[in-house]
Parts: sequence; structure tokens; C-alpha cells
Amino acid sequence: MEHGVATAGDRLERGTDPLAHLKRAVEELKATRDAVILAHYYVAPEVQELADYVGDSFYLAKLANSLPAETIVLAGVAFMGESAKLLNPEKTVLLPEPAADCPMAHMVQRRTIEEARAAWGNDLAVVCYVNSTMEVKSWSDVCVTSSNAVKICSELPQRHLLFIPDRNLGRYVAEQLPEKHVILNKGFCPRHQAISLDELIDLKEEHPGALILAHPECTEEVLSEADFIGSTAGIISYAEASEAREFIIVTVRGVLHELERRCAGQGKRFYFTRTVPTCVNMDMITVESLVRCLDRGTGEVEVDLTGAARERARAALDRMLELAAR
Ligand code: 13P
Ligand code: SF4
Repeated sequence: MEHGVATAGDRLERGTDPLAHLKRAVEELKATRDAVILAHYYVAPEVQELADYVGDSFYLAKLANSLPAETIVLAGVAFMGESAKLLNPEKTVLLPEPAADCPMAHMVQRRTIEEARAAWGNDLAVVCYVNSTMEVKSWSDVCVTSSNAVKICSELPQRHLLFIPDRNLGRYVAEQLPEKHVILNKGFCPRHQAISLDELIDLKEEHPGALILAHPECTEEVLSEADFIGSTAGIISYAEASEAREFIIVTVRGVLHELERRCAGQGKRFYFTRTVPTCVNMDMITVESLVRCLDRGTGEVEVDLTGAARERARAALDRMLELAAR
């Protein structure tokens, strides 16, 4: 008998504690498949609750590389599943919703890389934000995430760095490393790009004592108001450790679940701009899609790169893991 979506749903209706029943159904499905569930902080709270591990992009990439399970279910957008598969070609990697893509992952053209390589030769490194397709990674020398971009770029021997695809994270890195010549590409995250400075200033006026914690995918003007700039994991850890009681969170709202969990009992308050930042792509991942993929093995990630390109993409990820560990 095929068990899973229907079975989990049936149990859900019959049970008195739907979450406990759902968790049990998911445990059974995971055991059948020898699967582990990894989720990004941006996915819906109920999906995070069903995951074995929840974290930022770097944590998930690093973790996927070290888990013994045969199947990795990545509750996140396509590039996260692709990174897990590139790093673990022998494993089955499943995406609950393969159509959940990150628009920024495609925002760079090969010509941009070729022109920069022609201009700067061996004194150029192509630095690729992990929010990128496998093909984009294969054009690059090293991957970075928002939590390690500054450290990794500072350790590269080349002076000229072409930073792709995100212009906002690239500009932030350039500001931190004046000794480097950072060449920016035009890509951006539509969700962070849309966060309005006016709404942020209004919010700060309403809560003058609140600290502003922002993700480096935000625009320059928004970041100029920030008290702390960091990855999703960085923002969460900062708020947890801070003595302050009020925080304006300038990133996608999904982080609120972990913020509230980690700061439980501390009486802290978190505010988002009036137009609450949400990621439509991350929101596509639902409990139903997670259970369906576990049950039926749907959404399997394939590496559609040829041998040499696949090796280059993998090498860019490996180099990130190696440099970040130093
Ligand atoms: P981090 O998880 O590195 O903070 O990145 C946020 C993001 O946009 C993931 O898509
Ligand atoms: Fe992509 Fe932005 Fe969504 Fe992250 S928040 S997955 S960068 S669209």
C-alpha cells in the first residue's frame, strides 16, 4: 500500500494532536527511506518543525556533506538541493518542491565572466554566491555564502574579484575589504531589494530603542541604517546573545520562527517592515509537498552538467568548505 500523503492526512484528521501525528508519520517515512530532512530558516514554521536540522545556507551545505543517511530531503530552494547533490553524488537528494527556484541564481551571464577573465587574467578570482545554479558555479573559482563571503574573499590571493550574482552582497564585501578590487554583477534578491528604506525609517521611529539587524542582500541605503549585518544564522545568534529587548529584522520573515524559539522567555520583541518580506519561492514548500516527496521519492535532484563542468562546480563548493574551515 502506498503510504504517505493520504495516510498522514488521515491521521491528521483522526488525531487530537495533529502535529504529533504528522511527526510520527514523517518519522515512519524517513525510516523507510533512510532519509534526513534539512530546512532553511526561510521556510514555513510548520516545515521547520518537521525538519531534523534547520539552518542558513552555509550550515546546510556543510551538514549535507557529513550526514550518513542515504537520502537528503532539502526543504529549501533548488540551488540548495543542487549543492547537496554536487557534494554528495552518491546520495539521493530530494526537493519537496523542485519548482521553488531562487531568481537570483540565474542573474549572471557567462559573457560577464569571460570578459573579466580576459581583462584581469590570473589576478582575477570569480567568487560565486552559493545562491546560483550549478552551471554558474561551474564558471567560478570559489563559492561563498553570506556568512563567510568576507572571510573567504579576504583569503584569496587574487586582488581582482568578480562577485556574482548578487551585487548587494558583493558591494558589502567590497566595503569590508578595501584592499581588494571587487567587480560587481547586476544580480539581486528581489525580496531583499524590495525592502523599503522609508518603511524601515518609519519602523525605527515607532521603536527608537530597537536594534536594526539586516541581511547583506539588502540595498546599500538599507544596510547603512543597520546596527548589525549578517546571514540569517548571524542575525538569529546576534539577537539571542544581545542584551537589547527590541529588534527590527531586515530579512525574510521565515527567520521569526527560530528567533522566537531561541529567544523564548527572554521577553524580546521582533518587528518587520509594514510590507513584510516574504520569499514566494521558499513559501512553495509546504508540509504536503514534504510528505509527498518523502512518500513517493519525488523531486530527485539530477546533476545535468557534463564531467568537466561538474568537477569545476564541485571544486568551487569544496574550496568554500576548505577556506571557511581555516
Ligand atoms: P543565508 O541562509 O546564507 O543567510 O542566505 C539567505 C538566502 O537568501 C537563502 O536563500
Ligand atoms: Fe532567493 Fe531571495 Fe528567496 Fe533567498 S530570499 S531564496 S535569495 S529569492
